[in-house]
Amino acid sequence: MTEPSYLAAVRDSYDTVAAEYVLRVKDPSELDPLSRAMLAAFAELVRAADRGPVADLGCGPGKVTAHLASLDVPVFGIDVSPEMIELARRAYPDLRFTVGSMTALELDDDALGGILAYYSTHHTPPEMLPVVFAEFHRTLAPGGHLLLVGHVGSGEHLRPTHVYGGHPVSFGSYLLPADRITELLTRAGLEVTARLLQEPDEGTTRTIASFTARKPTDRRADRP
Ligand SMILES: C[S@@+](CC[C@H](N)C(=O)[O-])C[C@H]1O[C@@H](n2cnc3c(N)ncnc32)[C@H](O)[C@@H]1O
Repeated sequence: MTEPSYLAAVRDSYDTVAAEYVLRVKDPSELDPLSRAMLAAFAELVRAADRGPVADLGCGPGKVTAHLASLDVPVFGIDVSPEMIELARRAYPDLRFTVGSMTALELDDDALGGILAYYSTHHTPPEMLPVVFAEFHRTLAPGGHLLLVGHVGSGEHLRPTHVYGGHPVSFGSYLLPADRITELLTRAGLEVTARLLQEPDEGTTRTIASFTARKPTDRRADRP
């Protein structure tokens, strides 16, 4: 598949801001209790299902990947930004990090026991999300779990007008309604098992949504 054109902007921007991003992004231990609880619950789900390793898609500098590893989850990271992957490898030499895109994963069908998409799907234009969620469905083993976390809204497209750490960035962000994300996950064949909405609070201006979903184990259920 030819690379979608928006991905070059995402890659270039994150390559440019990677060193600044790693200084600014919170360590998972500093997250609010509900966000930490969702990561802990996901870790427990994938450990119990025991269907294979977890891929942290859009892992950035690998802090959340390392957090999952500390919770006894077999996990590796994938990111479209080579600079992010370089930082992750340097910080966590015992973990595996590779450059790749969630739009076309170089992974076999049913290879994963879990997928984490942590604040990494919001740069994907909504018309491309079915491609990404089809990749999630294809690569998850039956019974495997997804945790997707990110900001939601009413469909706003935040255009790339801001500067990050002195660098202008050239990617946009899409704040889809939580119902729309649920619908797209369901259409991709995943069962949404839980949704948590955290309303804006001190220190946050946007609603954070966490979705857990599972690839069904009974393939007969997919047939008409
Ligand atoms: C806001 S950062 C989040 C990084 C990390 N998950 C965290 O929470 O610290 C978004 C990351 O998603 C990556 N990303 C965006 N679209 C991607 C894609 N299609 N495939 C792989 N990575 C992608 C970016 O390169 C960036 O590192």
